[in-house]
Amino acid sequence: MLAELFLDAAAICREHSPLTHTLLVSAADDLTRGGITAKVMAGSECDRGGTVPGLRFAGALHRLVLEGRAPTLAAHYPSAGGRPHLPTLWQDALPVLDEHADELRALIASTVVQTNEPGRSAPLFGGLHTATHLAAEAAGRRTPFCVKLLEVGASGGLNLRPHRVAYRVGDTVLGDPGSPLVLDAGWTGRPPVDLAHQHLRLVGRAGCDLNPVDVSTEDGRLHLSSFVWADQLPRFRRLQAALDLALLDPVPVRRAAGPEWLVDQLARPERDVLTVVWHSVVWQYASPADRAMGRAVLADAAARATPMAPLALLVFEPRRTHPDRYEFQLLLRLWPGGVSLRLGSGAGHGIPFEWHTRPWV
Ligand SMILES: C[S@@+](CC[C@H](N)C(=O)[O-])C[C@H]1O[C@@H](n2cnc3c(N)ncnc32)[C@H](O)[C@@H]1O
Repeated sequence: MLAELFLDAAAICREHSPLTHTLLVSAADDLTRGGITAKVMAGSECDRGGTVPGLRFAGALHRLVLEGRAPTLAAHYPSAGGRPHLPTLWQDALPVLDEHADELRALIASTVVQTNEPGRSAPLFGGLHTATHLAAEAAGRRTPFCVKLLEVGASGGLNLRPHRVAYRVGDTVLGDPGSPLVLDAGWTGRPPVDLAHQHLRLVGRAGCDLNPVDVSTEDGRLHLSSFVWADQLPRFRRLQAALDLALLDPVPVRRAAGPEWLVDQLARPERDVLTVVWHSVVWQYASPADRAMGRAVLADAAARATPMAPLALLVFEPRRTHPDRYEFQLLLRLWPGGVSLRLGSGAGHGIPFEWHTRPWV
């Protein structure tokens, strides 16, 4: 039942977003009474829990706020310069729901919840440095390889500029100090290579997604912004800075399923280039068929890799560490040579992150 799905979504945000939590609990109550929320959600009553109808509802309202079309509600939204006043939040939401019911209903029915977390560029940056260094060592080269970065499940492609981000690490800034996107990397420990004296050179970048977001458009920017909980201001600001960086340095994301796309991208190994296949928080969404084909495509490409045209798989994905616990781990495999490492683990959004190199088995 829809009201229960709203309460499930409310439970997910209770700790991190009091605003979204309050909104969804009130909306669930309104749904059971057959209020305006039922009109807004008409047609979505039988949606599967996995499509998270509650977060689609909250995202659609957030979008109206970000567009400047719900000023009374915006007064509660930090992402729009407001301050939440939870006791009056729902009474200020009601007129907005009433006025925009048809538009909200259409938006909720046609969108999927989608995020793109630029904080994940920080573990990616350290992981790429490690990979280029280890691949060079294996090939007997003195200088690290240049990188061709291929991202599967790139969403809006916001992690396709790891070399153009400024990373504050201790009292140093790594990456591009002039970047509009500055990340406090929150690192404990360091990657197992010297980052201060190495330059990450990317000679090719490409991404694919089943639902690519075109972040060069206002629509794409609003789509990604609307699914960040409005009272998570640091996360929201990080996203806006990453969107600004993307406008300065566009990298299109192709509409495609990962494995089919990789067949083309990996067809010819490139000499003097380390090809890196990267994905973050995608594996759980891939179908069993896509997972099996993805493994096969990669194994095929790995067999063609040579010391001077190496291949890496670098992933940041949740892995079960206990029956009821997950850890977001950064994992690296290199071909040829058989390097297989767990480089560290961190928060789901990539920040903070702890580097601790161990075998990946
Ligand atoms: C949680 S988002 C993560 C986006 C991005 N990787 C990040 O870390 O911010 C998962 C993304 O994977 C995409 N996706 C899921 N299965 C896919 C597949 N088989 N091929 C390509 N993209 C896929 C979804 O469309 C979605 O954009």
